[in-house]
Amino acid sequence: MELPVDSWYRAIFVRKSRRSYDDRPVDPAVLEGLARRFEEVRLFPGARIGVVARRPEAVLRGLVGNYGRITGAPAYAAFIGDIVSPGAPAAVGYIGEALILEATALGLATCWVSGFFRPAAVRAHLDIAAAERVYAVTPIGHAADAYTRRDRIYRALARSDGRKPLAELVDASGPPLDPWQANAIEAARLAPSAGNRQPWRFSAGPGFVEVGAAGSRDDERFSKRLDCGIAMLHLELGARAAGKTGSWSLLDYPRVARYEIIV
Ligand SMILES: Cc1cc2nc3c(=O)[nH]c(=O)nc-3n(C[C@H](O)[C@H](O)[C@H](O)COP(=O)(O)O)c2cc1C
Repeated sequence: MELPVDSWYRAIFVRKSRRSYDDRPVDPAVLEGLARRFEEVRLFPGARIGVVARRPEAVLRGLVGNYGRITGAPAYAAFIGDIVSPGAPAAVGYIGEALILEATALGLATCWVSGFFRPAAVRAHLDIAAAERVYAVTPIGHAADAYTRRDRIYRALARSDGRKPLAELVDASGPPLDPWQANAIEAARLAPSAGNRQPWRFSAGPGFVEVGAAGSRDDERFSKRLDCGIAMLHLELGARAAGKTGSWSLLDYPRVARYEIIV
């Protein structure tokens, strides 16, 4: 699949997690189009997407606490990775964000949910092998016109509107960034992450940018590599919007992946 760079790059700047939906169905042709495009492609080995034309209540039911209650969505997608593949979490982040940006470009709302959902309920809707894990889901639908009070509280708790400054994210010991590298890292900086923790760090050198995770250990439930996979797609879109096509190689944790431009 050729990445639709222009529309996904634009979507980076308008996407926001939405948790209240207005119950309107998604046009079945649009949902089928999403399912066809994303279920068939393997943008990255080790991960895939299932699109479900059913309300996600059973998947999201029983949420407690102050974070992540989602209402009124008519459909959802599940982000699935191979259990044995070490690159699976980053691959899930990358392809999951691809669906999220495509949905955003289509005017639909989404919200990554990896914390509190029921994988068993997803398995009742989709054929998922024992060697696969459902890492996360997203509701798909039309956002309610305004943020509800509850939504605003969630956003305030996660400080969802803020992002760390570049100076905190980029390895200062490297050479000054080329303009394409600065554009790529800025796009990655805007990526969503679990609890908005932004666990990615960037380093750059001649012709490449590397994404790594902050902290020496990953978290099994809220994988930093998954968050880094999301940032990888943003980074690639920022690079390609600046005219630099490249390719990825995966690295060992806490490094995650390197984007190297093709000259
Ligand atoms: C991998 C991942 C998991 C997330 N899990 C949840 C979740 O379980 N519940 C929830 O309400 N939001 C969840 N979020 C949404 C984040 O809180 C949100 O992306 C972050 O606060 C930034 O806000 P924004 O997406 O509006 O830019 C998740 C986001 C990511 C990327």
